[in-house]
Amino acid sequence: MITAVVGAQFGDEGKGKIVDYLSENYDYVVRFNGGTNAGHTVVVNNEKFKFHLLPAGSLRVGHVVLGNGMVIDPKALIQEIDTIRKINRNLYVTVSGKAHVVTDLHRLLDRAEEEKRGSMKIGTTFQGIGPAYEDKYARTGIRIDDLSDAEIIRKKLNVIAQMKGELIPDLDKAKLEEIVSSLASMGLEIKNYIGDSQNILNSAYSQGKSILFEGANGTLLDIDYGMYPYVTSSNTMAGFISCGSGFSFRKVDTVIGVIKAYMSKVGSGPFPTEIFGQVADRIREIGHEYGTTTGRPRRIGWLDIPLLRYSILLNDIDHLAITNVDTLGEIDEIEVCYDHPEITPRYGEGTSDEEDKNLCRFKTFKSWGKMDEADRKRILKDGYDAFPSELREYLHYIEKMTGKDVSVVSFGNNREYTVRKNPDLKI
Ligand code: IMP
Ligand code: MG
Repeated sequence: MITAVVGAQFGDEGKGKIVDYLSENYDYVVRFNGGTNAGHTVVVNNEKFKFHLLPAGSLRVGHVVLGNGMVIDPKALIQEIDTIRKINRNLYVTVSGKAHVVTDLHRLLDRAEEEKRGSMKIGTTFQGIGPAYEDKYARTGIRIDDLSDAEIIRKKLNVIAQMKGELIPDLDKAKLEEIVSSLASMGLEIKNYIGDSQNILNSAYSQGKSILFEGANGTLLDIDYGMYPYVTSSNTMAGFISCGSGFSFRKVDTVIGVIKAYMSKVGSGPFPTEIFGQVADRIREIGHEYGTTTGRPRRIGWLDIPLLRYSILLNDIDHLAITNVDTLGEIDEIEVCYDHPEITPRYGEGTSDEEDKNLCRFKTFKSWGKMDEADRKRILKDGYDAFPSELREYLHYIEKMTGKDVSVVSFGNNREYTVRKNPDLKI
C-alpha cells in the first residue's frame, strides 16, 4: 500500500493530523520537499507535538525517510530526533545524502532578500528555505553528504558568500568560520542517519512494505503551479515524490488531498475568499490559526471550490480528507465559493485584493453547531452517519462539486477524533 498525502490549499490544512492518524498502518513515512518552513501539530492525549522536518508519522512509524528534495537544517534535525526518540524509541531515521543543507547563512539571506523585495515581499517563514534552494539550483549548494568534510563546507560557503555577500555586509570571516565548524560537528552527529532514499524506498517496495508520503506546505504554494510569486521555493505537488525521494510516483496507489473546512493562509498574495472582521477572528481563535513555525496570525477565508478543483487536477487526488469541521460548525452562517474566474497574482500587491473577492460567487450553508465531548464520543461510536445532517450536507456539496469522496473527516484536535466515511477503505 503506497499512499501520498498532500495539502490541497495554502498549507496548514491539517496534514500532520491526518498523516499521524494514517501512519499506524504504514512501515515507512517519507518527506520529499520543503524544510522547517513546514509545521505540523499533532495532539495525542492532550499533549501537543510540533514537527518541522520529521514527518508527523514519526510518533508511531518504524522508519522515517527524509528525501533529497528537502532542504535540511541539521540543528533542527538533531533536536527533533532527540524529542521524538523519547516517545518512539524504535524510530529509525534515514536522511538522503543528496538533500541540501540550510545554514545560518541562508537564514540571514532569507531576511535580507525579503527586505530587498520591498512591496514585492512574499512573507516567507524566514527559515532560509528560499536561499537554500537558490543555491541548490545555482549548483553551489551544500549537500548533507558534504557535512563530513569541513574543507568542502568552507569552500562552498565561501563561494556563496562571494556571490551573495553584498546582501549581508555584517558577515565576516570569523562568523563564516563559526558556521563551518558548527556544520562539521553536526555532520558527525547525523553521520549515521545518512542513506540513499531511492535504494531504501525501492527495496522496501519490493519487499511489499507500505509507504506513506507526506507532502509539506500546500499545492497553492507550489513553485510552478502555486500563485507565483507568493509561493515557496519547492514543488509541493504529489508528482514531486519521484524527484524528491527517488521513488517513482507511478507506484503510488492513492493520493489523498487534505483540506480544511475553511481556508487559511500566511504570507502575502491573493486569497479570493478571504474574510475579515468578527467571523474571521472567531474562526482564528477557535481553530488556533496561528503559524506553527512563525506564530503569525493566519489569514482566514471560506472554502474555495475552483481552487480545490485545480489542486485535485494537479495532484491527481483520489480522496479528500477534511479537517476542522468542528471549528467551522461554531460559525452561524457558512459560505462556500463555488465559482470565480482564474486568479492571476499581480506583483507588489498587498494582502487583500478586493477585485478578486468581488468575483467570487458564494453558496450559504446552515451551521451544524458546536460539538462537545459527548457528541464526539457518539460520532466515534456510531461513525460518519452520526454527524449532524447540516454537516453531512456540507460534505456532500464538496463531493458533488469536486467529484471526489470526502473519505476522512477530522472533528477535533486529538488523534482519535477522526472517522472514515467507508471504514473498509484501504488507505
Ligand atoms: P518560505 O517557504 O519560507 O520561503 O515562504 C514562502 C511562502 O510560503 C510564505 O507565504 C509562507 O508563509 C508560505 N509557507 C511555506 N511553508 C508553509 C507551510 O507549511 N504552511 C503554510 N504556509 C507556508
Ligand atoms: Mg503547518
